Amino acid sequence: MKILIIGGTSGIGLALAVHYHARGAELALCGRDPDRLDGHPIMRDARVRTYTLDIADRLAVGDVVRDFGAGGLDIIVVTAGQYADAAGLAADPGLGPALVQTNIAGLVHAFEAATSLMRAQGRGQVVTVASIAGLLIDYPGGSLYSASKRAAIAICATYRKALVPYGIAVTTLVPGYVDTARLRELNGGDASAKLFLQTEANAVRRMAAAIDARADCCVFPWQLHMLVRLFNLLPLRLRRIRKK
Ligand SMILES: NC(=O)c1ccc[n+]([C@@H]2O[C@H](COP(=O)([O-])OP(=O)(O)OC[C@H]3O[C@@H](n4cnc5c(N)ncnc54)[C@H](OP(=O)(O)O)[C@@H]3O)[C@@H](O)[C@H]2O)c1
Repeated sequence: MKILIIGGTSGIGLALAVHYHARGAELALCGRDPDRLDGHPIMRDARVRTYTLDIADRLAVGDVVRDFGAGGLDIIVVTAGQYADAAGLAADPGLGPALVQTNIAGLVHAFEAATSLMRAQGRGQVVTVASIAGLLIDYPGGSLYSASKRAAIAICATYRKALVPYGIAVTTLVPGYVDTARLRELNGGDASAKLFLQTEANAVRRMAAAIDARADCCVFPWQLHMLVRLFNLLPLRLRRIRKK
């Protein structure tokens, strides 16, 4: 099994890589920071290739997909993602474009490159890590991050329909909070106050099961999903109270 993970150098992407490495997969791991491409023992294994790649660079994404995918590509997983809240956007005008280029345009770059190869081989699976934040509907004051993940979920649904005739599955993973180093960094070093926080190991179990089943969508944990659905039912003026 050949699996390419864009955003596979830390957090959820790396945890998924470790999972599939233990199952004998041939892997390609991509990220922008070259120092991270040697940061885990599996990256020194002959079955694992690494690429310095910015998913915002459409041509570079195509090159990597064609290079690793020569001879076949079973699965591409896109976990590359950036986060920005309102304060961050106000402080750094470069943050918004970078987030959109990564979370939305980058996703489309990966879809296009991988599915043109998969269409030719007549099989394959495209997997995206969105977020439960993207399920919040009509959310006044919502973050650009939430909007980008909502776009990611919608983009997946569109491609899913278009790719049915080619035997290509599109799996959208929609997790709540996962206790990664990045989430801890965004929360002052400790994410334990986050509602229904999942360990990386638990998140990987859920995600891998959905990928193996070629599921359309996997939203977890159910408790947070239920809260989001209730929140979406609130009148607009009450939804405005939540800050980000
Ligand atoms: N942790 C959570 O609670 C949570 C919850 C819901 C959804 N998610 C989503 O899950 C994904 C992974 O989150 P995480 O917590 O594991 O974060 P993370 O550790 O920061 O992982 C992000 C990965 O993507 C790479 N990346 C970022 N921007 C990139 C770009 N432009 N091009 C290529 N690679 C890029 C990073 O490496 P470089 O920085 O070296 O490029 C890293 O390998 C994200 O999409 C996030 O939105 C996370």
